[in-house]
Parts: sequence; C-alpha cells; structure tokens
Amino acid sequence: MRAVGVSNFRPEHLGRLLAESSVVPAVNQIEVHPYFRQSDLLAVDAEHGILTQAWSPIGGITFYRAGSHGSTLEDATIGKIAAAHGRTPAQVMLRWHLQQGRQVIPKSVTPSRIAENFDVFDFELTGDQSGAIDALDTGVRGGPDPAAITRETFGLQIPEA
Ligand SMILES: NC(=O)c1ccc[n+]([C@@H]2O[C@H](COP(=O)([O-])OP(=O)(O)OC[C@H]3O[C@@H](n4cnc5c(N)ncnc54)[C@H](OP(=O)(O)O)[C@@H]3O)[C@@H](O)[C@H]2O)c1
Repeated sequence: MRAVGVSNFRPEHLGRLLAESSVVPAVNQIEVHPYFRQSDLLAVDAEHGILTQAWSPIGGITFYRAGSHGSTLEDATIGKIAAAHGRTPAQVMLRWHLQQGRQVIPKSVTPSRIAENFDVFDFELTGDQSGAIDALDTGVRGGPDPAAITRETFGLQIPEA
C-alpha cells in the first residue's frame, strides 16, 4: 500500500480530503519555524494522526525577508538557549521541532552545517525553553499563503495515471 503525503494543506484542505476520500495522509509538509508555528494546523494534523513535516525548520524562509523579525538564527531568545546548552541556534530549533513530534527537512549546501544539523540527539530542551521558543510565534508566514494559490498561478500539468 502506498502512503500519501500532502504539502501546505490547511485545516480546510485536510477537512475536504478527509470528507471526500478514504485517504488519511501520512505526512503534511508545512512551514513551521519559531516565527511561524501554525499551532491550529499542528493540532489538526495530530488529531488525525498525520505527521507534520516542517519545511524551513530553522526559518530559512525568513532570512531574506524585509521587515522587523529578521533571522531566527540571530534571535536573542534562541541564542540564549543555545548558549546554555553549548549548541548552535540551528541545533536548538531542530531539537524544538523533534521534541514536539515534528519531522524536519533543514537544507544546507555546507557540509559542516549538514553534520551540525544531524548532531541534535544528545541534548534536551526543558519545557520552559520549548515554551519560550513557542512564544516567538509572530503568526506571519514567510512563504505564500496556501489559500491564495490557484492552479492557474501555481499549477503543474499532472499526467493521468
Ligand atoms: N513544501 C514547500 O512548499 C516548501 C517550501 C519551501 C521550502 N521547502 C523545502 O524545505 C527545505 C528547507 O527549507 P529552507 O531551505 O527554506 O529553509 P531552512 O532549511 O530552514 O534554512 C536553509 C538556510 O539555512 C542555512 N543553514 C542550514 N543549516 C544551517 C546551520 N546549521 N547554521 C546556519 N545556517 C544554516 C542554509 O544555508 P547554506 O545552504 O548556505 O548552508 C540556508 O540558507 C528545502 O529543502 C525545501 O525544499 C518546501
């Protein structure tokens, strides 16, 4: 049997899929990082046993964004937690996801960073530290709003199976 994965599904998209088919996706790949946590969607994924896979897990989508939030890598709260563990901000963010049950797909073209991003299985954030990162949520997404995407603007030709 094949497992179906979806991406950028909002609660309304999941609701429609679940209502109109017998398929429960195994994975929903969505934007999640400390500046955009999507708590409502995380809860809906969890309610249906759908694994949330975080894209831009260390906030890469925010690094080049104009505006006031800046880079999660330079966030003072994350930096303080990283210093307390002798880790990097990227490692703290990845640990935050993993401890909350999310899968992560950090991207790097830099071998030392790829190694660093794997090296997150021998330390643990406290509940207060995780909560402090949760509190950084701005509610502002870095990527496009899935509700605004149409087949006309974002569609690919899908060959019939
Ligand atoms: N489904 C979707 O709609 C969607 C949308 C966007 C992205 N994605 C996927 O999600 C994956 C990750 O997202 P993303 O690339 O936007 O963001 P990300 O993984 O959060 O961040 C990537 C950025 O962080 C840097 N970086 C990686 N590890 C680091 C570390 N340890 N310390 C400091 N900097 C570090 C990378 O630089 P270097 O590479 O220069 O090291 C790159 O600039 C991508 O592979 C992409 O395919 C999916």
